[in-house]
Amino acid sequence: MAILPIIELPDPRLRRVSTPVERVDDEFRKLLDDMLETMHAAPGVGLAAIQVAIAKRAIVADIAGEEEQPRPMFFVNPEILWVSEELRLHREGCLSIPEYFEEVERPARARVRYLDRDGALQEIEADGLLATVLQHEIDHLEGVLFIDHLSRLKRERVIKKFTKAARREGEDHRDSRDHKETKRVPDKAVV
Ligand code: NI
Repeated sequence: MAILPIIELPDPRLRRVSTPVERVDDEFRKLLDDMLETMHAAPGVGLAAIQVAIAKRAIVADIAGEEEQPRPMFFVNPEILWVSEELRLHREGCLSIPEYFEEVERPARARVRYLDRDGALQEIEADGLLATVLQHEIDHLEGVLFIDHLSRLKRERVIKKFTKAARREGEDHRDSRDHKETKRVPDKAVV
């Protein structure tokens, strides 16, 4: 397995619509395993393939607590079949928008059809954190970020902040003097 680089806002690839996976073969399983390792290392509870710059409809998730055994889940070509009217509020983060958190309200339960790691058709009715994570990740497959669920003011503010930071980083790389590695504070609740 390998840890893959995660792309971050304002990378335009995050806005791409991912295409369906044609076959869950060994090569694709390797990508899923690399995504899982990348997500665990970050650490995060969910990751969509587009976050490692691969525009394919695939998601990994693991909502096990820190004291629990890992419970990796793989969702290929996931489709939301139904969502509850009841909503759930969760303070979301995103590995592609590091260190930024805001509350987002989404349906509390969601029924999702998908292919598992073996390519077998499955259906799950998710609730709680998993329902939030699946909806956040399926949004990624459509080029939608959790900040799109916030007010325009908040969204524009965070995009501006990350665009400025990326520009500064680009300048640092160009003159290659004084380039400091920024230390990231990990947070478990990022997807
Ligand atoms: Ni995300």
